[in-house]
Parts: sequence; C-alpha cells; structure tokens
Amino acid sequence: MSRQHRNVTRRELLTTATAGAVISSTACRPKTGTVSGNATLPAVLGGQPVRTARFPPWPVFRQTDENAVLPVLRSGVWSRDKVVDEAEIRFARLMGAKYCLATCNGTNALVTAVRSIGIQAGDEVITTPYTFVASVLPILLANALPVFADIDPDTWQINPARIEAKINPNTAAILPVHIIGGICDMDRINALASKHKLKVIEDACEAHGGEWRGRKVGTLGDLGCFSFQNGKSLTCGEGGAVLGNDRALLDRCYSFHNMGRPHGGITSRNGQGHVMVATKCRMAEYQASMLMTQMESFNAESARRSENALYLTQKLQQIPGIVPRKDYPQVTHTAFYYYGFRYKKDHFGGLSRASFIKALQAEGIHASTGLGVIEGKPINKEGCIEDALQSRVYQKVYPAAKLAAYAAANECPESDRLVQETAGFHQSMLLGTRQDMDDICAAVTKIYENRVKLAARL
Ligand SMILES: Cc1ncc(COP(=O)(O)O)c(C=O)c1O
Repeated sequence: MSRQHRNVTRRELLTTATAGAVISSTACRPKTGTVSGNATLPAVLGGQPVRTARFPPWPVFRQTDENAVLPVLRSGVWSRDKVVDEAEIRFARLMGAKYCLATCNGTNALVTAVRSIGIQAGDEVITTPYTFVASVLPILLANALPVFADIDPDTWQINPARIEAKINPNTAAILPVHIIGGICDMDRINALASKHKLKVIEDACEAHGGEWRGRKVGTLGDLGCFSFQNGKSLTCGEGGAVLGNDRALLDRCYSFHNMGRPHGGITSRNGQGHVMVATKCRMAEYQASMLMTQMESFNAESARRSENALYLTQKLQQIPGIVPRKDYPQVTHTAFYYYGFRYKKDHFGGLSRASFIKALQAEGIHASTGLGVIEGKPINKEGCIEDALQSRVYQKVYPAAKLAAYAAANECPESDRLVQETAGFHQSMLLGTRQDMDDICAAVTKIYENRVKLAARL
C-alpha cells in the first residue's frame, strides 16, 4: 500500500462550482405530473406537487433471488456452510480483497474486527463523531476508549489533520468511517498509522464499492467492515463482512465469530477447546444465497447511482443554500449510500430544515436529515458513552483525570454544525431516471423560489 500523501486544499476537491449562481437550468423544471392545479405554488401550501410517481423501490427482488434461495431452504441446511463459503469468495473478489469473513450484520463485523485485532481495556481508538452508533459500540464493548477527531467540513469524513494530536501511547487503532458513501483520506490516515504503529479498521458499512485511487474501500486498512442491512446499497436483509489480506488475522476473525473455536492457524493452547473469549455471529446460508444474487447487479447499480449523483450535484449546487458534499480528488468511484448536502436556511429566508424537508415531501420527494446520525446529536455526545465512562470497568481502568476531561477533549464543532445542516436522499432514489433527478431539482428549486411564502406559513 502506498504511503504517499499530500495536503488537499478545498480548491482541489472534485466538485467545482460554488452555490449562489443563478438557477438557470430548464432541467430543474418539473416535467412529470398530470395533476391539475397551481404548479408554481408549493404542494405543502395546496399547489400541484412536482411528482406523484414513486421512486425505485429498495431492496429489489428478482427471480434470480428466488431461484437461489429456494434450494437452500429446501436443503434443510440453513446454518453456515458451503453457500456462505462461496459468498465470501465472491465478495472478496468483487471488492479486490484476498479474504472475506461473512457475519450476521455490520455491527458484529466491526465487533469481530476490533476484538480480533486485539483492542482491549486501556486502549484508545480514534474515530469520527459523524457516524452511526454502530461504529462506536464495538470500541465500547471492548472496554476501549473512543476518541473523536473532528470532520473535514467539505467531505464530511474524519479529518486527518485532527487525528495526529489525538495520538498518545495508549492509542491502538484508527477507525475511519467512509460515511454516507464518501471516502476518507486513506493516504494520510495510513501514513499516520504506519508512523505511529497503529492498526486501521475501515468502517465501510455505508460505502460498498467506493474507490480510492482505483482501490476499493475496505481493502485499504488492516481490516474493512461491511453491512448488508436492508437499506444498504448491497443487501441480503441483514448481514455483514470483514475483509482483509492477512490470513492469520482473518483466521482469528473466523474463530472469534464462531465462539472461539480453533480455525486455520489459530489453535488453542493445549490443542483442545476454545481459543479465545468470543461470540457467535455467523451468516446464515439463505442470507448468503441472496447476497450472491444481489452481487450480480451491484456494479451496474453502483455506476447508476454515481452517474445520477454527479448530475444532481451539478444542478443542486446552483441553488443558493444547497451545498452538496464533496469528494477528495483521489476518489475514483463514489459509492452512494445517501446523497447528502448542507441545507443553509439563511438562503431560504430562514425556512427551517424540518419545514424544507416537509415541503419536499409534499412535492413527492422523500428527503431526510442524514442517515446514520441521530438528529441533533452527534455520536460523540451519545448517552451510551457517558454510561460506559461511569461503569466500574472504565472507572478502574482509566485515570480519573482522563475521564473528567473526556467530554471537553472530544468536542467536535464541525461535526456539530454538520449534524444541524444535513439533508439528502437515500441511495435508492439515485437508481432512478434522469427525469427523476430533474424532479428532485425542480422540487428544491420550487421551494427556493417560494422560500419567503413558505417561511411565513410553515
Ligand atoms: C457506518 C455504519 N457502521 C456500522 C453499521 C452497522 O451495520 P448493521 O446495521 O448491519 O449492523 C451501519 C449500518 O447500519 C453503518 O451505517
């Protein structure tokens, strides 16, 4: 892996045009909808909605899924066996990793990775505050201390410039999260890790297929973790995976996910019994059979999402107050789990984000305030962390002064700001047509043009 890195200025980021330009595109005018009524009045105020048609459904169920899953059901072998083995080989191949371990979900993929890499009480793990709670729970379950480094305001990913100051002799690992499909600056993160001899566990649960200089996320650190939960861009309902290139480490992961039973080169001390204190989080055969059929359409779906997202960015960034998330220039393929942008209400006459989303919904465009982040509360301020710090084990393991200073040391103002401003669309909407994207732009434009009226009425 290359350790080459360089500083990235905001100007270098991929997306170029700034918000504030005139909204000129005729593509941003609605072309669908035959409902009669006032097309310029916002639907939330009684006008005609931009669209009534539905966006593509998710997950997509095909005959191939049925053909694959029925024989598994009929076989009577539902617990981990040959189908899971095969799915692991195919997912590793799809992602360009040497090895894959399938798990029951992404949370337990992370638990497996964190424990197998050796994180334990007294260790510190540096991660991002702008993520889903499942990135942090595995650190806490290992009785380790999550340490939060603030985000880059443009890409929304953990900011490498903030990581180094957080490293101390207790730091054991960096856990970057490729959040909402964006990709962390892995050159700089890996350079820091090798300089300070730290492990890197990528949380790629929201970034299947994303590429950093031609290499897929989840293969760039020591271990990479994925989720195949229902909403993810590759799904089998529930499921997860750990990727890696080190056979011995993957054997350890296998043993951990299988109650600590010996596996491969991982044997018990006296040649008998269990190797480690572990858990059981195996993928089932029927999950794996669906994962394999879903993988068949993955590349085409991923390409479509990227193409539509690029188009959306070109259009939406022309609307004042809409600031789409950007990517580092080293990102060669963005794997959208969620299309995110900052909503700057000052440009919308003070219309609150909640009212903006409500108005979009009325136009037939489903938006939300950011997937993976509990509204108004970034993960570094979650109560479960405070609970852990108050627990007997933390009180015994960590110095009182460290715990007392924890909250102040983990302030992340950029993340706090982002959590208040995020809005966007689920990945399934990016599987729509060009017309669907135009409808999204038309709805945002319509709300912008009616902002004063809306701010006064909502
Ligand atoms: C960033 C992130 N990490 C971890 C997870 C956990 O995955 P799962 O829901 O499959 O347990 C998710 C998804 O929910 C996620 O978005």
